[in-house]
Amino acid sequence: MDIEQLIQEAKRSRGNAYAPYSKFLVGAALLAKDGTVYLGCNIENAAYSVTVCAERVAIFKALSEGVSEFAALAVTADADRPVSPCGACRQVIAEHCPKNMKIIMSNSKGNIQECTVMDLLPFAFSREDLNEQHD
Ligand code: THU
Repeated sequence: MDIEQLIQEAKRSRGNAYAPYSKFLVGAALLAKDGTVYLGCNIENAAYSVTVCAERVAIFKALSEGVSEFAALAVTADADRPVSPCGACRQVIAEHCPKNMKIIMSNSKGNIQECTVMDLLPFAFSREDLNEQHD
């Protein structure tokens, strides 16, 4: 599975987005180290704040299936610039993905931007910080 194929999978997943409020459809495709791809799309709610982003849906699907080793994450939307994960998703990505894992952001125009998990959330608060608490 190359980057172009992973982007195609994210675009395919975007077709399942449930976004009647924002009308901003997002797709994500998470490549696990074993080669399995977990798709995610944003799922909104009339109570807006319980909306879940495409990235978190993909990650939680994999985790709930017992898969926790990841190799790359692609995310796509129909936007002017490649869609960039929100702050909440960055925190979840930082918790579950290797620091140097590739994040591939894209849009329907074919613009692609790549970065790492660390680029998305430098100085992330993490489980290591909790382990340093004594008393
Ligand atoms: N959204 C995502 O699913 N992923 C992103 O990276 C950016 C934002 C969703 C959340 C909401 O359903 C809609 O896009 C508008 O914010």
